[in-house]
Amino acid sequence: MFAVVLVGGVGPRLRQLTKEVPKPMLPVLHRPMIEHLVERLAAGGVTDVVLALGFKPEPFQTAFPDGRHGDVRVHYAVEPEPLDTAGAIGFAARAVGVDDTFVVANGDVMTDLDVGALVAAHRRFESEATIHLIGVEDPSAFGVVDLDDDGRVRAFVEKPRPGEEPSNLVNAGTYVFEPAVLDRIPAGRKVSVERDVFPGIAADGALYGVSTDDYWLDAGRPDLYRAANLDLLGDRRVHDRCEPIAVTSTVDPASTVANSIVGERAVVGAGARVVDSVLLPDAVVEAGASVTRSLVMGVVGRDADVVDSMIGSDGHVADGVRLHDGTAPETD
Ligand code: GDD
Ligand code: MG
Repeated sequence: MFAVVLVGGVGPRLRQLTKEVPKPMLPVLHRPMIEHLVERLAAGGVTDVVLALGFKPEPFQTAFPDGRHGDVRVHYAVEPEPLDTAGAIGFAARAVGVDDTFVVANGDVMTDLDVGALVAAHRRFESEATIHLIGVEDPSAFGVVDLDDDGRVRAFVEKPRPGEEPSNLVNAGTYVFEPAVLDRIPAGRKVSVERDVFPGIAADGALYGVSTDDYWLDAGRPDLYRAANLDLLGDRRVHDRCEPIAVTSTVDPASTVANSIVGERAVVGAGARVVDSVLLPDAVVEAGASVTRSLVMGVVGRDADVVDSMIGSDGHVADGVRLHDGTAPETD
């Protein structure tokens, strides 16, 4: 079974980190998010993954140089220009000749969903498309559905205004499609799966949804990307646990690292404190600095105090500076 994975977005909400590294290539516990996703798809019966690429294809091509990850074949479909979500799905599926039931996944979703169970539900419904759904407190930042008792989606509304959501069940970013969905996607132009395709299939009565209470988050926001990492330290995840401090990092014995991840080759100096944070590969936290609830790719200078902030690879917090709720470099 094929899966198309959408990885062509620019990751605007993590822009300090995604300047060099596209969002799905950012590490979650030392390994690119996309690897976790490919492994989960494989566990659900996927044999071939097509990466729908636009923005910065090279890092993906380098990550899977022989076109495989484990037993899964990895294919690349590089859009000539961003085609939006459905345009990208159509482009990628046609590029590899998909002609049977296939899976689609947003590249920034971390979940314990059983993909095989979603495919089985899709076959039971005999639907044209089946969406994984999750109940959330504030659905307005997502695609929201109105679901009937039989699992049929009566309406799909992308990012409704707060207060106008039809329910609290949101599109969790994993779908099972029949090839017929491709007929709804004209080639060569921007088409949105959420704004154009799903409302159309729902209107034809052929869109179904399955809601689960699996671990799920969209790692596209700084606080949630941090959570995607730190949740793997506790017992909230079923899969994928591993060591928080990379063996290639240098952590001074006279420093404190608590509930945090220290990435490959990162350096933590004497007397530094790193709490509830993610240090990405090559990050530097100099002596005496304090980093709390933050994401660091660049350098935090001596005795600096960084809280609730995001430091890009070209970000440098000068010695002794206090940065609360900010970014380095500053957001334009
Ligand atoms: N190839 C390609 N081309 N990929 C794209 C493009 C494009 O033009 N535009 C977006 N993508 C990819 C992104 O890289 C991401 O993996 C996925 O499509 C979804 O885009 P996001 O920018 O992350 O969308 P979102 O998080 O605001 O909303 C989506 O996900 C929510 C769940 O996490 C929607 O699908 C919502 O309906 C959903 O609730
Ligand atoms: Mg997203």
